[in-house]
Amino acid sequence: MIIAANLKTNFTRAKTTEYIEEIEKFIKQNSISQEILIFPTSSSLNLHNGEAIIGVQNAYATINGAFTGEIGQEQLEEFEIKTILIGHSERRHVLGETQDELIKKFNFYKELKYKIVYCIGEPLEIREAGHAKMMQYISAQYDGIDTNYENLIIAYEPVWAIGTGLTPTLEDIIVIHKELKKKSHAPLLYGGSVKVTNANDVLALDGVDGVLVGSAALNADNFCTMIEFAQNIEIN
Ligand code: PGA
Repeated sequence: MIIAANLKTNFTRAKTTEYIEEIEKFIKQNSISQEILIFPTSSSLNLHNGEAIIGVQNAYATINGAFTGEIGQEQLEEFEIKTILIGHSERRHVLGETQDELIKKFNFYKELKYKIVYCIGEPLEIREAGHAKMMQYISAQYDGIDTNYENLIIAYEPVWAIGTGLTPTLEDIIVIHKELKKKSHAPLLYGGSVKVTNANDVLALDGVDGVLVGSAALNADNFCTMIEFAQNIEIN
């Protein structure tokens, strides 16, 4: 399974290093065979040689150039980063990235063979418009995306579940993941208020290949507990 931590705009470089060390100590001590991804802030990226895969939360579709405030492939290459999160709900809804921009970004980093975690998910008003409308909305987020890309991971994260403590029911997750699996064979993660208290149930569901965790992952012990859940489910 794939267990991913999105640290968002949290932790300094020093704290991130400490955090990664703690997670990796746990991975080693417990012979964890799951794929662990950690997405720190761009300013905390570093050369890294360990069990977890370190990815970037965002980058511009460029090698370098005149894009004030952005980072490009040249800056990622310095730290041997080959994994990127694209389409996260906060990029779409808070920072206003459009599907066209995301497609451009996706194609650029796909061309460079990056592992891409591509996020999809509906806002509350779409969810409330009924299942058909919701699936239509989510389908549109696949537009222009190569769903057969070999280094693709998809994360289904309902916007209304992110950072709110709300989650769909387990039954809802099963139904939605089943439909999404028809669109792509890429591993499919669930994200949105995954916590120690619900992670085991979510990870055990059919069609769930892992989780993308935000706030609950900021506590290294909690994140390690979720890694352990995944490990136990997979070996049993
Ligand atoms: P959350 O965030 O776990 O805090 O809901 C998930 C995410 O944004 O990926």
